[in-house]
Amino acid sequence: MSRIAYVNGCYVPHNNAAVHIEDRGYQFSDGVYEVIAVHKGVLIDEAGHMVRLERSLRELEIAWPVAPRALGGIMRQVARRNHIHDGIVYLQITRGVAPRNHAFPDHQNSALVITARRGAPFDPEQARRGVDVITIPEIRWRRRDIKTISLLPNCLGKQQAVRAGAYEAWFVDDQGLITEGTSSNAWIVGADGVLRTRHVGNQILNGITRISVLKIAADLGLEFAEEAFSVPAAKAAREAFVTSTTSFVKAVVKIDGGAVADGKPGELAATLLDRYGQHMNRQLADVQ
Ligand code: PDD
Repeated sequence: MSRIAYVNGCYVPHNNAAVHIEDRGYQFSDGVYEVIAVHKGVLIDEAGHMVRLERSLRELEIAWPVAPRALGGIMRQVARRNHIHDGIVYLQITRGVAPRNHAFPDHQNSALVITARRGAPFDPEQARRGVDVITIPEIRWRRRDIKTISLLPNCLGKQQAVRAGAYEAWFVDDQGLITEGTSSNAWIVGADGVLRTRHVGNQILNGITRISVLKIAADLGLEFAEEAFSVPAAKAAREAFVTSTTSFVKAVVKIDGGAVADGKPGELAATLLDRYGQHMNRQLADVQ
């Protein structure tokens, strides 16, 4: 089966899908994106992703390439044409094609690309297996709240993790506090039993999974705090885990080579993961 991509109004074979060499995304990484999970054929937390996309576009003054309402239909069409039951939809909007010049072009000519990729179905056991993280200096810009395609520091960090045999790298700011992972949010259950993830602001991306997991934590009546935590606090934590659209809730069992607690995936991460699976399944019912 050949994959299909959506490029500026056309559904084209993935292998031939291309944009112009003067697309500002290509030249300046002048664009934004979203990654949305497809679970049993349904786009998960679509509304939340659209809210964040709207915010990213507004902050960068990039115009919608199509009416916001039309986007959902196109994403579903791309998922359908690629027969995606479980996987992801990737959406990217750039400021479009213009002669190379740092200042914005006068015209509003945003470019839209949507692709879809199959992935393994949600498997609580798989996601429950623990992973390692390393810590690395925070070298990114100060607007990490915008989901920009400008991801070079994130790529460098992830590559460092891969070389160290780890799953993820956690960025550490100048105060020694963890911001987030290269493609996920960072969480701990502190030595005091309080669930912690960094507060939103310009320092982290407000993950859609993060928002859902906070809501689940509130529903469960857990004690939680949206506040920064240090590397020593993470290393002394009862539990640690990451959240993202592609990782769901993934237990962290080692930080910089040292075991978190007894080195086994934590109980709370497992509970949150189960509840997250239920959160996704509820959305299947909503569209039936
Ligand atoms: N990354 N922080 C960063 C820097 C991220 O890139 C991501 C997501 C997250 C988690 O956000 P969400 O829960 O909305 O997926 C946090 C996606 C998956 C990616 O770039 O592939």
